[in-house]
Order: sequence, then structure tokens, then C-alpha cells
Amino acid sequence: MLLPDDPTPGFPANAFRRQDETPDAAFYHFPRFVTHIDAGAIAAVTQLYREYLPAGGTVLDLMSSWVSHLPEDVAYARVVGLGMNAQELRANPRLSSYVVQDLNQTPALPFLEEEFDGAAICVSIDYLTQPVEVLRELARVLRPEAPVVITFSNRCFPSKAVAAWHSLDDRGHLALVQRYLEAAEGWHRIELLDRSPSGGATDPLFAVVGRVAKP
Ligand SMILES: C[S@@+](CC[C@H](N)C(=O)[O-])C[C@H]1O[C@@H](n2cnc3c(N)ncnc32)[C@H](O)[C@@H]1O
Repeated sequence: MLLPDDPTPGFPANAFRRQDETPDAAFYHFPRFVTHIDAGAIAAVTQLYREYLPAGGTVLDLMSSWVSHLPEDVAYARVVGLGMNAQELRANPRLSSYVVQDLNQTPALPFLEEEFDGAAICVSIDYLTQPVEVLRELARVLRPEAPVVITFSNRCFPSKAVAAWHSLDDRGHLALVQRYLEAAEGWHRIELLDRSPSGGATDPLFAVVGRVAKP
């Protein structure tokens, strides 16, 4: 039975609670011109984008900041960023345009159906309180078979990550993101990847890649 306060069927009612339940706009009010993973992990993200995001295509960088980690030598027709801080997004040299939107308040994406050829969510999926709704929307705005590359490491802003994320280890995070995509429906060919740089001296880097399945 669905409880009135359980908007995400199949997940425990408190899975998406956070230590800091104040509006995200306050947390992201000031820009953070930092990188959230080290150079080795960023290189792994860039390599994934090189492999999965189509050169020359239109790309959506969801939960974007001042850096998109796209390969510098690859041109895209358009790169659209959506995030919480306008100063960061304005400073991002890869973005053609950007939108400031709190996905935890408004998970609907302000884009047309099948507007994009690929999408990225880098080190941010753990902050979504309605990830299934956002990923369902993402499937809507991507063309059939377009990829989403969802990457994460083992660091986060603890007060803003959801309880489900805190309760799991790296393997559990891969399984959780896979489950988000499955629950959102409209996704297939889901791959779980460990792209951690070898040697163990840098941040680990994991990815879940899905492709849009449309009839
Ligand atoms: C750890 S940073 C990662 C930024 C960027 N993707 C990167 O790779 O550097 C988390 C990002 O998630 C975005 N974000 C967090 N909560 C959000 C929300 N409720 N709605 C939209 N974006 C959000 C923030 O704007 C921030 O840029």
C-alpha cells in the first residue's frame, strides 16, 4: 500500500531524508570554485564522456557547476547545464546555456521531449530526494538510445546526501543507482562500472550508464 508521504514506490519512506532539510538554495547560495574529486578521478569521468556522449551532439549536464569535465578536444553542438548556483554555471566554459533549478523542489525538467543526445550527472546523484522522478524526466528529454553517464566517488557533502546513500558502500551505491533507473522506467542496457584509477592513490570513480528505451 502506498503511504501518502511515500512519493517513491519501492523505497523506504525515509530513504530520501537528509540531515539538512533546509532548502538547497541556502546551501548552494555561495559559489564553490573547487573540484569535488581529484585529477585522476576527473580523468576517468572525462574518459567515460569520450566513450559514451556522442561528439557533435546536444548534451545535458545535470547538477552542473563551473566545470563539466567534457573532453576538451571534442566539440558538441550544444551543452546545457542545470544546477543550483548561477555564478558557477556562468563561469563554466563548456556551457552554451544554463538553468538554475532546484530539482528537489521541481523534478520536472524545463526541456522538450528528445531534445538531447546524451546526459551527465557527475558526483551529484546522492543529493536528489526524488531521483526516480528526475530520471524519468531525463528519459523524456533524451532521444531513444541516448546515454546517461552517472558518476560518483566516495565523497559527498554529508548533510545534503540522502539517507539511502549513507547506508550503503560503493557497491551498494552502484546497485542503488541502477535501481533508480529501473524504477524510473524508460531505461535499459544499464552498465555498472568501476573506473577507479589504478594504484589506489586517487579517489575511486564509479559509473552507472543507462540508455533510453522508447517503444
Ligand atoms: C558536488 S557538486 C558537483 C558539481 C559538478 N557536477 C562537478 O562535477 O563538479 C554537486 C552539484 O549538484 C548540484 N545540486 C545539488 N542539489 C541540487 C538540487 N536540489 N537541484 C539541482 N542541482 C543540485 C549543485 O549545484 C552542485 O553543482
